[in-house]
Amino acid sequence: MTSSNISLTQFLIEEQRAGRVNPQLRLLIEVVSRACKRISIAVGKGALGGVLGDAGEGGQANINVQGEAQKKLDVLSNEILLEANAWGGHLAGLASEEMDTSQPIPDKYPRGNYLLLFDPLDGSSNIDVNVSVGTIFSVLRCPEGVTSPTDADFLQPGTAQVAAGYCVYGPQTTLVLTVGHGTHAFTLDREAGSFVLTTRGMTIPQETREFAVNMSNQRFWEAPMQAYIGDLLKGSEGPRGKDFNMRWIASMVADVHRILTRGGLFSYPLDSKCAAKGGKLRLMYEANPMSFLVEQAGGAASTGRMRMLEVTPSGLHMRVPVFMGSKAEVDAAVGYHQAHD
Ligand code: AHG
Ligand code: MN
Ligand code: MN
Ligand code: MN
Repeated sequence: MTSSNISLTQFLIEEQRAGRVNPQLRLLIEVVSRACKRISIAVGKGALGGVLGDAGEGGQANINVQGEAQKKLDVLSNEILLEANAWGGHLAGLASEEMDTSQPIPDKYPRGNYLLLFDPLDGSSNIDVNVSVGTIFSVLRCPEGVTSPTDADFLQPGTAQVAAGYCVYGPQTTLVLTVGHGTHAFTLDREAGSFVLTTRGMTIPQETREFAVNMSNQRFWEAPMQAYIGDLLKGSEGPRGKDFNMRWIASMVADVHRILTRGGLFSYPLDSKCAAKGGKLRLMYEANPMSFLVEQAGGAASTGRMRMLEVTPSGLHMRVPVFMGSKAEVDAAVGYHQAHD
């Protein structure tokens, strides 16, 4: 990574001068980045801050709309993002993995032109074991003439995103951002309290020898996925003619960050356990923002059967199968699906 003296604030002002962001979108990104700093501080305190473990009272875990037990940090991160974004005048509404429905901005505050969607804390299963977690966000335009958006106003394909990003809380806290002109990484200078541009224009190598998937689900996968991974595992003696390495952190943010940094293929495919829901990962909070970032870095993202960013959302919490990363490898995975369908 090449370091610079360019803060996120300076970067966004330069993007505004170049006509790539307007003042409202710039404020939105600044506000989200400030919320991520607060989440980073909470994550960093761990047991000392009393933030580990499940949310809920009397030994009874809170179950969110996804059917998952909420962690304390899921709830806290959601509250930090809601509170930070309520009053700035840049948003018309918000939607979150942790909330049943979308929320319009309260009447007491001015409303802006954008809709914000987020996965406040990604990789919840890793919080208590001190492994990287993250925040993912996606920005859409509020439809013309709508002042109090409902869920239906959020149901836009990923191609309609005007910005997307994630913040990974790992050994370093890194914010990765796109406004549709490349994918850029900013590392948090913890002493100064500001994000500093560390990679302008991340690029994913087209070819790879590395894949990320939860192999324990292998027997539940569809036939094309069985065939695809089966051939990867045959290595240099199989049809792919090369040996592959595997990594699985189980935090999408951390797995995709590795792929944006050095290439690879990330997949959470359809399996018979999640088939009724359409997949495991959520289109609006996980797949779409990550696909936008990956495409902007020269990679590809697909459901296995179509380009992710062209999926028409059927609901706020819609789930999809996911393949993303190095373009040649995503194309190979899609090829196995085409051959089987
Ligand atoms: P979240 O913590 O926001 O609910 O998302 C968890 C997701 C994703 O981060 C990760 O890739 C996947 O779940 C891990 O799934 P497994 O537990 O099946 O490995
Ligand atoms: Mn969750
Ligand atoms: Mn997630
Ligand atoms: Mn989450």
